[in-house]
Amino acid sequence: MILQVQDVEKSFGGIKALEGVSLGVEENTIVGLIGPNGSGKTTLINVISGFLKVDTGRVYFEGKDISSLLPFEIARLGICRTFQLTRIFRGLTVLENMLISSNMQKEGLWQLFFNRKKMILQEKVDERAAYEILEFLEINHLKHEYAHSLSGGQQKLLSLGMALMADPGIVLLDEPVAGVNPTLANKIFEKVKLEKKKRTFLVVEHNIDILMDFCDMIYVMNKGKIVASGKPEEIQGNETVIDVYLGG
Ligand SMILES: Nc1ncnc2c1ncn2[C@@H]1O[C@H](COP(=O)(O)OP(=O)(O)OP(=O)(O)O)[C@@H](O)[C@H]1O
Ligand SMILES: [Mg+2]
Repeated sequence: MILQVQDVEKSFGGIKALEGVSLGVEENTIVGLIGPNGSGKTTLINVISGFLKVDTGRVYFEGKDISSLLPFEIARLGICRTFQLTRIFRGLTVLENMLISSNMQKEGLWQLFFNRKKMILQEKVDERAAYEILEFLEINHLKHEYAHSLSGGQQKLLSLGMALMADPGIVLLDEPVAGVNPTLANKIFEKVKLEKKKRTFLVVEHNIDILMDFCDMIYVMNKGKIVASGKPEEIQGNETVIDVYLGG
């Protein structure tokens, strides 16, 4: 297991966003995380990536307890993420976003605001890596376009590219194809599947069909708990899962 979440609890005031959550992610797999709105999916991603601290429980990455580390420390170890609401620098170009990304993961956001241009200059080394990833994602032709001029789907691709810049061991994707047309959504997952040779993915996604096609393993959340898990074919007919989605 490259990632292990052990009995994690996280509350916001009276709301138990995560309750006794445990899961394991095997290396070089794509693991899906589904569940209704407010079931705790993003909170779990935030806890794993260090954006939120657990109340109790532990998170292990490659056997190391990362529960009390800061986001940039966790990113340095090789856990990178994307955000449910795409976070890109709209006033910078695609290439600049790519170059800034690994810095952001390493140093945190504040450093970046103060030294933005300087850091871009320092990142000549990363340029080759950026081009390689942009080419792989088929958005290389957009490299000098401002990020705000990209379509929603292209912005999602860019965020995936930004997450890949640090060459992470595991990538946490929070709704990587939300609002993206089915053709591009499929293409994004095809790219993720190709990357599976090199790394591991934990993907939050509402589109169950696409998860069925691409995931090796799926966890289902409801009201802060994992209520089912298994291979896609095991999840498909699972009554708890059907209840959770149809029963509200
Ligand atoms: N920072 C926060 N402060 C207070 N409550 C929060 C915070 N973040 C999440 N919550 C609450 O925790 C619960 C789980 O939210 P979370 O965002 O993890 O759900 P989700 O499964 O990602 O939902 P969605 O599918 O809508 O993105 C919800 O009740 C939410 O309102
Ligand atoms: Mg969410």
